This record gives sequence, C-alpha cells and structure tokens, in this order.
Amino acid sequence: MRGKLAALAVSTAMLPAFAAGAAELNLICAADVVVCEKLVSAFEAEHSDISVNMVRLSSGETYAKIRAEARNPQTDLWWGGTGDPHLQAAADGLTAVYESPRMSELHDWALKQAEVSGNRTVGVYSGALGWGYNTKIFEEKGLKEPACWSDLLDPALKGEIQIADPNSSGTAYTALATLVQLMGEDEAFEYLKALHANISQYTKSGSAPVKAAARGEAGLGIVFMHDAVAQSVEGFPIKTIAPCEGTGFEVGSMSIIENAQNPDEAKIFYDWVLSAEVQNLMPEAGSFQLPSNKAAVASEHVPDMSQIKLIDYDFAEFGSAERRQALLARWDKEIGGRAAD
Ligand code: G6P
Repeated sequence: MRGKLAALAVSTAMLPAFAAGAAELNLICAADVVVCEKLVSAFEAEHSDISVNMVRLSSGETYAKIRAEARNPQTDLWWGGTGDPHLQAAADGLTAVYESPRMSELHDWALKQAEVSGNRTVGVYSGALGWGYNTKIFEEKGLKEPACWSDLLDPALKGEIQIADPNSSGTAYTALATLVQLMGEDEAFEYLKALHANISQYTKSGSAPVKAAARGEAGLGIVFMHDAVAQSVEGFPIKTIAPCEGTGFEVGSMSIIENAQNPDEAKIFYDWVLSAEVQNLMPEAGSFQLPSNKAAVASEHVPDMSQIKLIDYDFAEFGSAERRQALLARWDKEIGGRAAD
C-alpha cells in the first residue's frame, strides 16, 4: 500500500506543470465550421492559457444535446446558430443568466434576444432567409428564375430543390416559422406538402443545400441569403434571391450553459466574441451575416436588409418551447414522414 501511494505521489509530481492548471472551454459552434475554426484559432492566439474544445453542430441538434446533458453539462458555451432554439433553451432553464459588459455596444435586435430571455441569450449576428440557385443548371435546363415562394412549386423544379430538416437545422426551422407567419399555419403546411414534390433531399445542416447547388448536385437550396452569397464569393455560379412575398430572418445567438464546468472561460470568450474587432474577422471566413456590434463593419457582401421585404418575425412566439415543439411534431407527421414522391 505504501509503495502504491509513493508511486502515485511521484507520478503526480511528474505531471507537466500546465496540465494541473490548464483552463479549458467546451464550445458548441452552430454556424459554419469555417468561421467556427477561425474564431477558435483567433481566441487561442490571444488567450494562450485557455484551450478550446469545439464541435460544430446544427442549431436543433445543439438544443437536443444541451437538454440531454442538463444534469451533467459537458458544454460551457453555445455560440451561433439561429436564435429560436437558444430561446427555447433559455425558457427551459438550460442556459445561464449573464450580462456582458459589452451589451451597450450591441444593436437593439441583438439585445431583444436578451430581453425576451431574461439575459440567458444574446444576438451575435443576423441574416435573412432566401435561396440560392445554380444559374448554369437553370440555363441548361431552361428553368425560369424563381423570384417568389410560389415559384418554387413549379413542377419543372421537381427534384431540383434541397432544404434542411427543421428538427436538426435552425435554418429550416426559420423557413418553417417564416412560412407560417407569411401564410397562416394550415396554408404553410399545404405549401410544404406541395413543395415536397420538388425536394430531392432534406439535409441535416442548414447551409448544405446551397453547397450542393454550388457543386451542381442540386438546382436550388433554400438557405440564409448570406450562405448563398458565400458560394458566389467562392466563385460558384450561384445567384441569391430574396423571396418577393417577404421573408423571415434569424438572430444568430449565444448562450452560456447553466451549471457549466468552466463558466469563467465561457464569459471570457463571450465578451471577446461580442467585440467589434472579433466580429470583423467573420467575413474573412466567408461568413457574411450582419454583425451585432454597432461598431463592427459589415462586409460589402452582407445582403442589404433594407432591400429585402422582411416580415416582423415573432421570436418570442416561435422560439417558445410549445410553438417550436408543436410545429416540429406537425412537420414530422405531415412532411418528414412522407416518402419522397
Ligand atoms: C449557417 C449560417 C448561420 C446559421 C446556421 C444555422 O451556418 O451561416 O447564419 O445560424 O447556418 O445552422 P443550422 O445547421 O442549424 O441550420
């Protein structure tokens, strides 16, 4: 026994000095993986004492993970992804109250998330929903440019469209909630049933449909407009459309997890990532959302919100647990459960 204890003492003493005090941050990043990696490497360069373990998950998947881990949180901070699941997590008490000293630097639309949630979440960026289509494919097939939601029902587009699954993807949930707000719930489900005939795939991640369109694997992806723009900036033949009837938008958000293991590190990242300097890094990673810090400079590629017909998206209602759960259950029953036509 004494021998074992002595051996233990020696092995502990031999541990490298940094191992004992190494600070960690467990981050779920729900935006595009390229911007996630950019932020992590910039943060680690400035905070060499904190090592970040980052995973990229879609918004709805993140919510499900945070909920599953509620009794023993493995995540400290959730950055990005659409605001609705952040609000649902806040209402469930899964995320912590925090007021960053940078709150006064933010746009009202970003602060609204904090207000609605009792400071359990805050807006980090915003962007409107639309679609991107492959101009080459459309030209080759003699297809007409779809300018309106109603144009997407054209039978000529059969098998050409992709959108994500709203259970995993915040983008697709934003689309579902947008259509409900534009048309009324029953009409929106009728629309989605008709659209289903033209859908080739419901993807897991929100931006995957327009990436598929860029590669020529689909004609059109229903996505946030900035995700379509990112593909044309990369040189792909993608044209971005703002739907003529009007459209919804996201307030991408950030939340600290309740009972996180590393709350101090989470707050350090939280305050850092809200700064104008850090938000200015995002376009370098092909991330063209509108930044939430008033002093951040929006890239020339950020879609001009004043030119888009935006609906008055009701985040409190569509981010509420009851509404989100009910809409997703109805989508599963009436849309997701249907075999591809
Ligand atoms: C892309 C967009 C983000 C958005 C996110 C949601 O990364 O650039 O603005 O918040 O999608 O991802 P999800 O997979 O949940 O639809």
